[in-house]
Amino acid sequence: MSTIQICPSILNADRSNLAAEIRRIEADADWLHLDVMDSIFVPAQTFSFDDSVKIIQGTSLPVDSHLMIANPDEVASEYARAGSKSVTFHLEASKDPKETLRRIREAGARASVAIKPATPVEFLFDLLDFADMFLVMTVEPGAGGQSFMRDMLPKVKALRSRISEISGSQWIQVDGGISLDTISEARLAGADLFVAGSAVYKSDDAGDMIQALRQRANEVEG
Ligand code: DX5
Ligand code: ZN
Repeated sequence: MSTIQICPSILNADRSNLAAEIRRIEADADWLHLDVMDSIFVPAQTFSFDDSVKIIQGTSLPVDSHLMIANPDEVASEYARAGSKSVTFHLEASKDPKETLRRIREAGARASVAIKPATPVEFLFDLLDFADMFLVMTVEPGAGGQSFMRDMLPKVKALRSRISEISGSQWIQVDGGISLDTISEARLAGADLFVAGSAVYKSDDAGDMIQALRQRANEVEG
């Protein structure tokens, strides 16, 4: 199986002290997961584009931008141009996912598309040739600290089988409720990238927690 990558989400970090909060993860994380919310696609609002650019440019980590915004087709590639190494938008919000994925790649980032819990995984099958990663949400997007939705794992499994059938190298990311208690089953289902917000930021030593999560997922390989 592919390499396990841990992507701490700074959504629930202390925003009044973001630079220091980012330093807590820089030595151990594989990616910084940036949750962009616009108060339309989801009720909450988080980082503006300008805030996002500052974060992207101010960290040594590659940034994985997760756009929970209503009209991603025009702006998704802007996040790539701003230096984000991976850009994910929601299938439910896109009018032309293939074109948006193409534009993200053209702007130099890995192109990725996400599905909410109610969206069937089969809707992604048509996009296999256009995407570098798929994000299967394991909570309803919009907030950190929610419970892991175990019933999303069959979607991860189905997608992993489909990718194997075509000998693809696309990554599968899971986001929501990932902790030491849930990461193993998500890995077993076939996920490679694990977003963890509260698990990392609520622990006393964020770096140790990132390593513990990676270790726990690695144990699945046996
Ligand atoms: C939720 C966000 C997540 C969130 C995860 O909509 O997309 O990235 O930060 O937080 P936890 O790990 O606490 O579920
Ligand atoms: Zn996210």
